[in-house]
Amino acid sequence: MSILRGARILLGITGGVAAHKSVDLASKLVQQGATVDVVLTDAARNFLGPAGLQAITRRPVYGSVFEPWTADFAGHITLGEESDLLIVAPATVNVVAELALGLAPDMLTTAALASTAPLLIAPAMEDTMFRHPAMQQNLETLRARGAMVVGPESGRLASGEQGIGRMSEPATIVGAARKILGRNGILQGRRIVVTAGGTREALDPVRYLGNRSTGLMGYAIAQSAIDAGAAVTLVSGPTSLDTPYGAERIDVQTAVEMKEAVTEAVNGADVIIMSAAVADYRPNAVRSEKIKKSELGATLSLDLVTNPDIIASIGHDGLIKIGFAAETSNLVEHAQRKLREKGLHLVVANNAEQAIGSRDNQVTLVWPNGDVDQLPLMPKSDVAELVIERVGTLLAG
Ligand code: CTP
Repeated sequence: MSILRGARILLGITGGVAAHKSVDLASKLVQQGATVDVVLTDAARNFLGPAGLQAITRRPVYGSVFEPWTADFAGHITLGEESDLLIVAPATVNVVAELALGLAPDMLTTAALASTAPLLIAPAMEDTMFRHPAMQQNLETLRARGAMVVGPESGRLASGEQGIGRMSEPATIVGAARKILGRNGILQGRRIVVTAGGTREALDPVRYLGNRSTGLMGYAIAQSAIDAGAAVTLVSGPTSLDTPYGAERIDVQTAVEMKEAVTEAVNGADVIIMSAAVADYRPNAVRSEKIKKSELGATLSLDLVTNPDIIASIGHDGLIKIGFAAETSNLVEHAQRKLREKGLHLVVANNAEQAIGSRDNQVTLVWPNGDVDQLPLMPKSDVAELVIERVGTLLAG
C-alpha cells in the first residue's frame, strides 16, 4: 500500500485550464488511501464545479473563508492544521505570488498560512508568464522556504502554442506527494540501489536473448524505498514502466552494462537490491549483420559465454546485499545456496513462473541464520513494502 494511506491532504485548485486534471489527481490520491479536502478558488469555479470533487473525495469542497464554524470545524484553521500536505494544482501565477508574499485573500491562501504542513506546487500557465522574473523569483522564495515545485512540463499550452507551462500529469504529482510524505521514513538519509527488469543480450542487429521479466517487482521496491525516505538509483533493463518520482534511473540493455552501472552506483550506497533477471549467458560474438536462414540450414547452434555475476562481484564495508532467487523447484534449498555463494544478507525467493508478469507475488524470505519466512500471495507493492521494512531493520542493527 502507498504511503498516502491515512494521509490528510489539502488540495487547492486554482483558476487555470489544467484544473480539469485535478479531478483525476484527487481521485488518484483517494484511491491510494488519502483523505482529501479540496479548496476550489473562485477563479477555479469558472473551469470546474464542486459536485464531481465532492463525489470523489466524499467530503465537502471548500470555497469561502466564511464557511460556518462548528464544534469540529474552525474553517481555514482546521483545514490548515489538520493537513499533512498542502498541494496546489494547478498553481496559477497569481496564487504563487500570494503564497510567496504571505497574502491571504481567500480560503486557500488563508489555510496555507494556518498550516505548517509541507507545500507542493504544480504551476500551470503560459510560457511567458512562467518565465517572467516575478514568477521565477516567487518560486525561488517558496523553494527557499522548503516548498517542492513539480513541473511545469513542456508541450502544447492553452494558447495553442508550444512552450513550458503545462501542469505535470496527476501521476507525477502523486509521486512527488509520496516523496514528500516519506521524507522522514525509516530509510531517511540512506542510499539504495535497485535493479529491475530483464537484460537483453544481442545476437545480431535485430535479435536478442532475453527473458519475460517486466520490472514490476523492482519498480515497486524502488517506489517503496522512496516512500521510506531513501535516495534511490534504479538500474533498469528495458521496460515500459514509469520511473517512480524521485528515483535516478539508469537504463541498460545487457548484463555487462548492468554490472558497470551497478558497480558505479553502489559507491557510497548503503544497500543493493538485485531484483533484475540477469541473463546468465551471452553470445560469444554479436554478428554485425542479420543472421540469415539461408546460410544456416535447419538448425542454429549458439555459442554462449557466461556473464559476470553482478551481486557476487560487488561489495564494500557495510553494504547490505539483497538478492532474489527465481526458481521453478526446490525454492528454499536453491535460495540458501545463492545466499551463501553470493554473500547476501537476505534472499527473496519466488516461483519464477508465478511471479513473472503478474501483479502479485508469493515470496519466501531466506536469511543467513537459517530462518525462512514464507509470506502469503500479495500485490508486488505490498511485497516491496515488507522487503523495505526488513531493510530498515537490517540497517538499524
Ligand atoms: N544475479 C546477478 N548476476 C547474474 C545473475 C544473477 O547479480 N549474472 C542476481 C539476480 O539479480 C538475483 C540473484 O543473483 O538477485 C539470483 O539470480 P537467479 O537468476 O535466481 O539465479 P542465478 O544466480 O542466475 O542462478 P540460476 O539461474 O542457475 O538459478
